[in-house]
Amino acid sequence: MSIIKLDATDSTNSFLRGLISEETVADLTAVMAKKQTNGRGQMGTVWNSEASKNLTFSVFKNLEDVQIEFPFYISIATSLALLKTLSFFSIPKLKVKWPNDILSEDKKICGILIENVIKNNKITASIIGIGLNVNQTNFKDLPKASSLRIISGRLFDLEEVAQQIISNLRYYFNLLNSGDLALLKEEYLNYLFRKNKPSTFKNAEGNLFSGFITDVSDSGNLVVLLEDAIVQEFDLKEIQLLY
Ligand code: BTN
Repeated sequence: MSIIKLDATDSTNSFLRGLISEETVADLTAVMAKKQTNGRGQMGTVWNSEASKNLTFSVFKNLEDVQIEFPFYISIATSLALLKTLSFFSIPKLKVKWPNDILSEDKKICGILIENVIKNNKITASIIGIGLNVNQTNFKDLPKASSLRIISGRLFDLEEVAQQIISNLRYYFNLLNSGDLALLKEEYLNYLFRKNKPSTFKNAEGNLFSGFITDVSDSGNLVVLLEDAIVQEFDLKEIQLLY
């Protein structure tokens, strides 16, 4: 595995997509940038990150030989690779907020943006974009954000963290390749933020409602137990978990 290091690019996901359209890229090749000028988040949001302080990087995962029945498991494997890496660095109280925000002490420390490459109706590769707050100490406009530095008090070597993530991605994608989805799901659910706790959600119309998260479906929907014992599935556009 190799890491391409850039001083600046618009988005490492976009850079990697450009690269794979031009040349053959080896599995688990990563692109890391000190600064992104157009960092992208989920659902069309912007990802801002202080230059040189954090990891903004993307990893190419070749999936040509993998039968991907449920694309959500790409997200599960990636989340677990991040959680394993953060445990390795002794980051406490780790959770995954559905679908794939990584929290420590209830604050977001990492966001994931997965963009798949599809050929002939098959996912042949994933561009796994990771924004991990590492050494940044000031999140003045983002009270729900934190970093490894704030949580642990120590400074981290960005490349060392990136190498750990890549080797854990290798591990969890091998598991995905072996087809043991139940094992991946079980580990993901163990980390799921607010699972089986009374929670408040916002629907697409902006209305609040309460329920208990009980599960996540294979297609990636959040399964919520509502009043009167009604169980309902929601996709990302339909629901936002508030607390
Ligand atoms: C989110 O939580 O909204 C996902 C954020 C993902 C950010 C990373 S930073 C590296 C890669 N390049 C991008 O433009 N986005 C992802």
